[in-house]
Amino acid sequence: MISDLKGTFSQISNNNKRSAIREILKLTQNPEIISFAGGLPAPESFPVDALDSIVSDMLREEGAAVLQYDATEGVSELREVLVKKYRAEGIQCSLDNLIVTTGSQQGLDLVGKVFVNQGDVVICGLPSYLGGIGAFQAYGAKMEGVPMDEQGMSATLLEAKLEELKQHGIKPKFIYVIPDFQNPTGITMPESRRLEIIALAHQYDVLIVEDCPYREVRFEGKPQRLMYQLDQDNHVITLGTFSKIFAPGFRIGWVLGPKDVNEKIVVAKQSADLCTPTFVQKIAVRYMNSGVFEENLQKTIDLYHQRRDVMLEQLEKHMPKEIKWTRPEGGMFLFITLPEHMDALELFHKAIEKKVAFVTGNVFYCDGGGKNTIRLNFSYVNNEKAIAGVERLADIVKAEMLVEA
Ligand SMILES: Cc1ncc(COP(=O)(O)O)c(C=O)c1O
Repeated sequence: MISDLKGTFSQISNNNKRSAIREILKLTQNPEIISFAGGLPAPESFPVDALDSIVSDMLREEGAAVLQYDATEGVSELREVLVKKYRAEGIQCSLDNLIVTTGSQQGLDLVGKVFVNQGDVVICGLPSYLGGIGAFQAYGAKMEGVPMDEQGMSATLLEAKLEELKQHGIKPKFIYVIPDFQNPTGITMPESRRLEIIALAHQYDVLIVEDCPYREVRFEGKPQRLMYQLDQDNHVITLGTFSKIFAPGFRIGWVLGPKDVNEKIVVAKQSADLCTPTFVQKIAVRYMNSGVFEENLQKTIDLYHQRRDVMLEQLEKHMPKEIKWTRPEGGMFLFITLPEHMDALELFHKAIEKKVAFVTGNVFYCDGGGKNTIRLNFSYVNNEKAIAGVERLADIVKAEMLVEA
């Protein structure tokens, strides 16, 4: 072994932290555990039969071509399908604005790669998706958190943060938001809040990175326009993905962004993976054009809607009145706030003993807060298990409240 392996590792690899969620998920692997911890889509939602015939038709009709390298920007027919979909929503964009990435996680990484220098400030919600925070921190970002309210990132507190940074001569690189059914809270920003944040981005001359993996998984309420559409001034970069609306194993995401930004991202992607696998992109084109996409998405929405309802009902039925939780209109997660003095990590260990698991909310707080919060996933576990799991969880919370009293 090399004498100074530690000193040989790059700054970036030293910036990379092991994901706290992965460590938690390891403890939840036991099949007897009812796990609300992961962020997995329901396997029942994957269109296995439709893909069976699509893949064999494709190989028969296109042969070796689907196994070749393709453009770094992505397979052009897939980019066209995605641009057409956005245009149908009234969003002005062209092929220059759309690049396929290997999952939206790669989009987050590439955004970090093209914008973040060591020590640069990036603003995010308190709490925010850990994979986003980790991707930016890997490039040396100093994350500054802005608390959220029931409408998402607080515009008032964002303004205060931007002003405070300005007083210190600091201009953040971008504001990271997940406007629809946020991971981890499930909260959606109404248009008024989106517009306030965009106005602040203009005023302080900062970009917005809008991460939208759950947007199409809406059970109720009014669909919200993308910040990309509301902005119309090249301040917003949007990340999309097929992971929650088709199949995460395909690892297909995309960046919808200003042309100048996308040109940089393509160069960065080139050295990362040359291109996202051609095979899965070509399957995705056929799938999108087959009409099965809409049908299967509706089935997924119905399934998660029903699973969310079961979880909400069980929480209402069993949780003590001091416990609060969000009521997401879509997506895959809801967020519980325990009384201030309670520690979710202590509860987690007790929960594992009782064979139920969740993710402690603190892992999503870049400022080390959120110790009394819990994220619950409702997309993966079936109703029977969800009923048993929430009841067990409530029993643990009740017992803890008695101890504390
Ligand atoms: C907010 C958010 N962004 C990005 C991702 C990454 O998704 P993928 O790389 O599968 O597109 C996730 C995954 O759960 C997420 O919750």
